[in-house]
Amino acid sequence: MCGIIGYKGLRNASDVVINGLKRLEYRGYDSWGMALIGSDMNVVKNVGKIGEVDEINVGEAHIGIGHTRWSTHGKVNKLNAHPHLSCDKKIAIVHNGIIENYQEMRRYLISKDHVFVSDTDSEVIAHLIEEHMKTVDFVEAVRRAVNELKGSYAIVAMHKDMKYLVGAKKDSPLVIGVGENELFFASDVPAFLEYTRDVVFMDDGELAVLNSGVEIFDIETGKKKKKDITHVDWSAEQASKGEFEHFMMKEISEQNRTIKQALSHSRDTIEDIANRINNAFGIFFVACGSSYHAALTASYIFSKIAKKHINVVVASEFPYYKDFLTDRTLMMPISQSGETADVLQAVKTAKEKGTHVVSIVNVVGSSLYRQSDYALTMNAGPEICVLSTKTYTSQLTLLTLLAYACAGKIDEGKLLLERVAKEVEELTSPETRIRLVELASKLKDKKNIFVIGRGVNYPTALEAALKIKEVSYIHAEGFPGGELKHGTIALISEGTPCIVLAPNDETREEIISNAMEIKSRGGYIIGISPENNEVFDFHIKVPDEGIASSILNIIPIQILAYYLAVLRGCDPDKPRNLAKSVTVK
Ligand code: F6R
Repeated sequence: MCGIIGYKGLRNASDVVINGLKRLEYRGYDSWGMALIGSDMNVVKNVGKIGEVDEINVGEAHIGIGHTRWSTHGKVNKLNAHPHLSCDKKIAIVHNGIIENYQEMRRYLISKDHVFVSDTDSEVIAHLIEEHMKTVDFVEAVRRAVNELKGSYAIVAMHKDMKYLVGAKKDSPLVIGVGENELFFASDVPAFLEYTRDVVFMDDGELAVLNSGVEIFDIETGKKKKKDITHVDWSAEQASKGEFEHFMMKEISEQNRTIKQALSHSRDTIEDIANRINNAFGIFFVACGSSYHAALTASYIFSKIAKKHINVVVASEFPYYKDFLTDRTLMMPISQSGETADVLQAVKTAKEKGTHVVSIVNVVGSSLYRQSDYALTMNAGPEICVLSTKTYTSQLTLLTLLAYACAGKIDEGKLLLERVAKEVEELTSPETRIRLVELASKLKDKKNIFVIGRGVNYPTALEAALKIKEVSYIHAEGFPGGELKHGTIALISEGTPCIVLAPNDETREEIISNAMEIKSRGGYIIGISPENNEVFDFHIKVPDEGIASSILNIIPIQILAYYLAVLRGCDPDKPRNLAKSVTVK
């Protein structure tokens, strides 16, 4: 889940690496480091966020690598920060992933007199390359070294005496940027988007050498491979904060546009996927975190609109369902990044059973995008804030449209969602935000917040609680309205806030009576609803859009979560311990 970057070109490598790391910081931010080859190998490492660094004076260099860390092995300190060096200090490597056989490798390398300075699994890579260099050149040494590694890796390595970079990938993301007279390695495209939009997406088992051009080799055989360059249409502006203080608020505010962009697929495309759903024998939506909440919401929408039963499974649990899979099953993974390890593992499980895989994914060219039989894109542009906001509503939009398409009502679905896009604009307006700042100031010192919803808004309650807790660190829990009284109501005391999602649908009466039960125990009731009700202590008005209410209801909660974070002094873009792409299992 770390971020890595490599640069070779005419610019000052230090600026490119620092810029790139700032753009990759959403992947990990407990420490960072870089190595540059100028007249010598210069290494800088630090604990903390790279975002807090303005400029570093390391002299002139045109080749360099950098890393922003999300620790898995070894404490957060300078020694464990990457890059890691070989004993002779000539080889520097950065690594994202987990080396499963590192203990055995470490013992072997120690027996060969290598001296380790960190507690990481990654350091073995630098020493292993050094060991192989006793008999072969640098590129071949990297190939042999990575061929011996078990686990997952995206690695970039450089050698003080060579003017090129070597990268290798297995089960962790690594892409190559191809500019004019300059080349980049990175975990993700936004890291080099301001310099080039031409990308080579590396596949597992590939090794690349960036010299005067790009050369790709098969790690196992060493044979050269041909790869295409893809032009991506994301822009550097999309990946910058613009007038906003944080990406989180920028991305929340973009949702009127991103919902429309999700709707921009041709009728043929949507109908084709609807046919695959209609013809499948067993359908699984598979996802993690917020994407899972979108999938769960969609299962209610499919049931109501298309009369279809969808199995919704958290990706890490999916392999245990493998006995239900056949070549007539349809698996639909849903993922913003397309790099979530649990989702990719689930796809592997499905493919082993011959199951057809149609994904919904935001990052074009990501592993999921390439591994799917078909990938329906969210078209939301880069999402930089660690929390998903705009891609959550993009997922809901696409899934809702598919449900309507399955029922042969694509036009009706499109009209509804276009209206929702307009209404979302009002919900993110300054007036609504002022009201939510007022609510955030009332809630900012609370210990617990509960959220309840029923039907299609039950998963919205789960998503609301996730948004609040992950960014403000206030404990929050979401429940189906009927469930709180089966235990957790014991925690309600005078002033405990409970957010109640009360649309004008079949759930309204019952959810209001659940709100009464909480209020009569002292709960402070915040109603998110098209209409006010006497049980609400604080009312946030949202438009009434029936089955699409889950898209509208989450918007004020995203904004509330943002202000809770800001008022409590938390960084909304980079919550502690979190990384945007969870590329480890
Ligand atoms: C929460 C959040 C995570 C992701 C989850 C899946 O705000 O962002 O829960 O939704 O890690 O990520 P993707 O969609 O990239 O597979």
